[in-house]
Amino acid sequence: MLTVKDLHKSYQVGKTTYEVLKGVSLTVEKGEFVAVMGPSGSGKTTLLNCISCYIPIDSGEITLGEKQLADLSEDALAKVRNRQLGFVFQDFLLLDGLTVRENILLPAIIGGTVTSQTEARADQLCDVFGITAIRDKYPAEISGGEKQRCAVARALINHPLLILADEPTGNLDSKSSRAVIRSFEQAKASLEATIFMVTHDSFAASFCDRVVILRDGGVWRTLEKGSTDRAAFQDALLDAIRDMGKE
Ligand SMILES: Nc1ncnc2c1ncn2[C@@H]1O[C@H](COP(=O)(O)OP(=O)(O)OP(=O)(O)O)[C@@H](O)[C@H]1O
Ligand SMILES: [Mg+2]
Repeated sequence: MLTVKDLHKSYQVGKTTYEVLKGVSLTVEKGEFVAVMGPSGSGKTTLLNCISCYIPIDSGEITLGEKQLADLSEDALAKVRNRQLGFVFQDFLLLDGLTVRENILLPAIIGGTVTSQTEARADQLCDVFGITAIRDKYPAEISGGEKQRCAVARALINHPLLILADEPTGNLDSKSSRAVIRSFEQAKASLEATIFMVTHDSFAASFCDRVVILRDGGVWRTLEKGSTDRAAFQDALLDAIRDMGKE
């Protein structure tokens, strides 16, 4: 589904080059829910922005489905972003002037693909994520957790291959975080969504199938949940983070 191979990315600031990603390789299988953790500044957002094609990469390969992203034209990339990727951000990024339902439809509106089927899908997504009662409200009239569930529904409207989420629970209290994580689990279970989520939160990460920990520009460790229960997996994540501090 998603393959990242030996990805290198540096930023040029004045005359200095900062190497941020120094050979990151990972894969995400269809239907997997994968988290990326790592210290602040370890390159998590940079990795996500490379996969989103928001920033150019120095070297390496990113393959989404069958497509090598580096080979695509600007037009083709815009299509990939609109149709094959869904985005969820820390600060929701809903449009204030649109209702919940209109916000959910936005990627389809931008892509020029709104049909009665898309509208039915928007209603189905509201249903799946428990926001039907508020679908005619505006973002200013709903809670943070509701906003983020609306953002998750929006990310799914075009049946994307992959959802990319950067700290989706970063601005939420634990109850709303739980609701948002539940919406990802539902997206995975009932809509066969594939999710790649950056998070600092070991609680949120403990719901994932796999957690990739970045450090110093590379993959430091990957933890597989397997048949471990959630609480034990969270303990394993916390242990790993503690180990990293000791090294
Ligand atoms: N546009 C940019 N220009 C120069 N340096 C940048 C730029 N964006 C990020 N960096 C640097 O690259 C490094 C990685 O940043 P990145 O935002 O990917 O980290 P992160 O792991 O997402 O951190 P956080 O957990 O704080 O969100 C940091 O040292 C940051 O200062
Ligand atoms: Mg970040």
